[in-house]
This record gives sequence, C-alpha cells and structure tokens, in this order.
Amino acid sequence: MNILVTGGAGYVGSHAVKRLLAAGHSVVVLDNLVYGHRAATGSTRLVEGDLADRALVEGLLTENAIEAVMHFAAYAYVGESVTDPAKYYQNNIVGTLSLLDAMVACDVKKLVFSSTCATYGVPNTVPIPEDHPQAPINPYGFTKLVIERAMADYRRAYGLSYAALRYFNASGAAADGSIGEDHKPETHLIPLVLDVALGKREHITIFGEDYPTPDGTCIRDYIHVDDLGDAHVAAIQKLGNSADGPTELRVNVGTGQGASVRQVIAACELATGKTIACVAGPRREGDPAKLVADPRGAERLLGWRARHTDINEIVASAWRWHGTHPDGYADR
Ligand SMILES: NC(=O)c1ccc[n+]([C@@H]2O[C@H](COP(=O)([O-])OP(=O)(O)OC[C@H]3O[C@@H](n4cnc5c(N)ncnc54)[C@H](O)[C@@H]3O)[C@@H](O)[C@H]2O)c1
Repeated sequence: MNILVTGGAGYVGSHAVKRLLAAGHSVVVLDNLVYGHRAATGSTRLVEGDLADRALVEGLLTENAIEAVMHFAAYAYVGESVTDPAKYYQNNIVGTLSLLDAMVACDVKKLVFSSTCATYGVPNTVPIPEDHPQAPINPYGFTKLVIERAMADYRRAYGLSYAALRYFNASGAAADGSIGEDHKPETHLIPLVLDVALGKREHITIFGEDYPTPDGTCIRDYIHVDDLGDAHVAAIQKLGNSADGPTELRVNVGTGQGASVRQVIAACELATGKTIACVAGPRREGDPAKLVADPRGAERLLGWRARHTDINEIVASAWRWHGTHPDGYADR
C-alpha cells in the first residue's frame, strides 16, 4: 500500500516506517521536524511541512496515490498539556481534523491513529481492557479521546475505516541500533535512567515508593517500538482486508506485563553495568499505581502480540542506541 506517515521523523513513527517498508509498503513521511529528526527517516522520502496545511496534505494524498494514513504527529507532553492546553487542542485536535477532512476530500479512507492509554484516566480495573471507560485526567489524553470520537463519527458519515491504537509506554530501539529515542526534553523513564548511566544526569528521582505494588513503585506496561510498529502493520492489513464496509478497531497495544520503576532501574544497571543513583521523591499527582494493558483484544482483533516482553531485553535494546548515541541524533 502507499502510506502517508505523519510524524514519521519522531520516535514511534520512524520505527513504524522501518517495519512498514520491511512489510513491502511504500511510504511518504510528513513531519514539520518540530520534535522529529531528519536522520531518523533514513532514505525514506520526507516532506517537511505541517499537518494542518490542508493544501499540502491534499497534494501529497493525490500525487502519491496514497491509500492509507498513519497519523503519529502530535504533541505528547502530559505536563505541558496541563500548563498550555491551547497548544494541544490546536495541534492534536484542530490539526488532526484538518487531516481527516483532507482524507475525506481525497477519498483516502484508511487511517491508523496513535491513541494512548491516557484516554482511560485512572483505571478501575487492571489489566485494562478496551471497553474500560475512557475518562482522561489531562488535556493530552482528552485530545486523543476527541479524535477517537471524531473518527467514529467520520466512519458513520463518510465511510472512514480506522484503527485507534492505544499505546502503553513505548520503549526500546530498533534491533539494528540505527534509530532510537531522542525526545528533547525527555520525560520517559528508560532514557532518563540511561542518562544517569551516561553521566548526563546525577540521579533519577523515584516519585513515590509507597504505592500498593510489590516494591512500592509505579508499574507501567513497556511496549517495544518494534512491536508497536508491527501492530501498525497488522492494523493496516486488517483495514485493507475488510470486505464489509468501513471498519473500526480500538486496540490496546501493550505486553500485558508490567515493570515497576525499581525493576526498570535494575534492568538499566544490568544493561549498562553501572550503578544508578536514585533519590526518593514524593508521589506525582495523577500517577496511577499500575497501568497495564489487557493484550487479548490485540490478539483477537489484529492477530498481533508483543514479542519483546522481558524488561531486561527492552532496556538492552534501548542501551544499544543510547550507549552509542549519547546525544541522540545530535541535531538540536
Ligand atoms: N511515546 C509514547 O510512549 C507514546 C504513548 C502513547 C501514545 N503516543 C503517541 O504516539 C505518537 C508518537 O509519539 P512519539 O513518542 O513518537 O512522539 P515524537 O514527538 O517523537 O513524534 C511526533 C512527531 O510528530 C511531529 N509533529 C508534531 N506536530 C506536527 C505537525 N503539526 N505537523 C507535522 N509534524 C508534526 C514531530 O516533529 C515529531 O517528529 C504521538 O501521537 C503520541 O501522542 C506515544
């Protein structure tokens, strides 16, 4: 299939592009490089531009005979979404609606959307199934929920087929070490802990050690980016195969296994051979004790399941990238 990948110069998008190419798809990346990296796209065609540029997007859809869109482009800093919600409403909602309208206008009817477990808010049951109520507790999660609702309405009204993939914690790096995670600023636990190993940070702060978990620290579901990429390949295949009208898929993308903050730190010590200095901090507001996907929906709906489920293996792959690229892509 000819696929337009928005945000394909970012962390998850660039890994998904590699998997799409390996699966035989043809890809054009649209990224404004506000957070992305040119080098992350390798030899794939990168069009530098904004999601909300309707004329640009429509031109790309028609000139490249695009059959499906994978939409990764968004802002994704939860804390910033609380202090500057306008930025999130504008890019994640207004920008995405512009993309959806361009797709409808150009008769492109397949969309895979990067949603998030943050649409669930504080879960009342863990592992979290797809039919868990969605009650996001921050503007970031809400913007993603709005788009999930919009896609459902566009399916009914305009025949859009879509998959909302609700990622848990994306982690790790490509097996060949060629691309990896480089967020500036970085807020994700694994790269932050590895920064301590690299001497770029003095210590890691553990926010809360009195949670009702075996070691008292928060548990999250770390999903390897290559597995995430494969979930996208599986999703686009499902949308492409559908013979009975527009399809909608809402799928958790996680391993179903959680790792605690302490377990992640131990995995980083194992991978790097270094001792990680830790400092105890208070709990952070809005941090649930445990966020883990019920992975059975993905298996049923996509025929996909995570291959990398061992946190030591996931962290080792992250270290292959960070250990050899201490400044990431070194482009900003
Ligand atoms: N990383 C995670 O753990 C995680 C978890 C759940 C959901 N998600 C979602 O997955 C997607 C990708 O996340 P990521 O970690 O790769 O983020 P990222 O910041 O690395 O990638 C996003 C990319 O989108 C681009 N972009 C942003 N706004 C744009 C616009 N208006 N026009 C064109 N390009 C634009 C950025 O330059 C960047 O390259 C996001 O939608 C995010 O909300 C990520």
